[in-house]
Amino acid sequence: MAPLRVLVTGAAGQIGYSIVIRIADGTVFGKDTPVHLVLLDIPQCANVLEGVVFELQDCALPTLHGVEAVTEEKAAFKDIDYAFLVGAMPRREGMERKDLLAANVRIFKSQGKALAEYAKPSTKVIVVGNPANTNAFIAAKYAAGKVPARNFSAMTRLDHNRALAQVALKAGVTVGDVKNVIIWGNHSSTQFPDARHAQVTKGGNSVDAYTAVGDDAFLQGDFISTVQKRGGVIIEKRKLSSAMSAAKAACDHIHDWHFGTQPGQHVSMAVPSDGSYGIPEGLIFSFPVTIDGNTKEWKIVQGLSLDDFAKQKIAVTTKELEEERDDALKACDESSI
Ligand code: NAD
Ligand code: LMR
Repeated sequence: MAPLRVLVTGAAGQIGYSIVIRIADGTVFGKDTPVHLVLLDIPQCANVLEGVVFELQDCALPTLHGVEAVTEEKAAFKDIDYAFLVGAMPRREGMERKDLLAANVRIFKSQGKALAEYAKPSTKVIVVGNPANTNAFIAAKYAAGKVPARNFSAMTRLDHNRALAQVALKAGVTVGDVKNVIIWGNHSSTQFPDARHAQVTKGGNSVDAYTAVGDDAFLQGDFISTVQKRGGVIIEKRKLSSAMSAAKAACDHIHDWHFGTQPGQHVSMAVPSDGSYGIPEGLIFSFPVTIDGNTKEWKIVQGLSLDDFAKQKIAVTTKELEEERDDALKACDESSI
């Protein structure tokens, strides 16, 4: 079997250091699938990148059939099957993720063009670099005509995982006993973490999360704000943004895109809206999705009921994404890249 060619951008950074081992050791694509890793960073980080390559070689991983460090987009994007677009500036204390828009959007315009020019049309892309949804929107726009928009996604799996953990803690179960939380909208403090359709296995029975938790005020209050603000809290504590949990979530996201979701389960993934739930077409919006492992196609879960509380929360995050999109398009027009 020819190795999958997998690109990680920002591979000399914090998330990069945690993510490459999971891709290389078979956690993401399976122990029987050989992988060729391409690590991209800026030229100033070439030495660090080389150190990462040496460490990967020293891991002696049977699934890792090749690894290369590059500092140019042409070499990075050539013939890739999957792209983890991580490389971007992280926010610091006191910033919102959208404050990174002007600095980071140029990177994704340029990488969108590189995807169109050099990547396989079937390439699947996860954008991790913030503001992730809008960066994915820009990359998709500049790759249009070559790589279809539905191959672009942004990561809200970290928020999804945070939501699973919060429900588990409150319900007094382990995280493996919770499924089907939903993150709606933007990977930002306006996202709507929703436990209304989640299920918990407790005492051998599957019950809805509201019954298992027994505290509606929590699920409509602290649960939502804890997940919305978790990234900021990690930055306050670590003085660095989350990396271990972000790398794990990115690997969960691509693992499920490659192998498909479990029967009866959905995951949260920011994908181009097709108008479902009234979200404007084309916005990269986090929805509950199921994935068919054979076709590797995602589908937005349809027909979930939304009460007024949910509709109001979804409207707020939609408005923010529309504003970010407009600001990003303006920044792209002004950028010479
Ligand atoms: P970091 O600063 O440690 O690493 C970023 C790396 O990207 C650096 O090595 C930098 O040189 C590189 N880089 C910058 N411009 C590049 C370019 N044009 N091409 C290739 N590489 C480039 O940051 P980090 O902690 O690894 O975070 C990376 C990004 O991920 C940040 O934007 C952060 O906010 C975001 N993030 C997103 C999520 C999420 O849930 N979506 C979670 C955590 C972090
Ligand atoms: C996170 O959610 O931890 C990341 O997006 C980093 C951040 O800026 O919050």
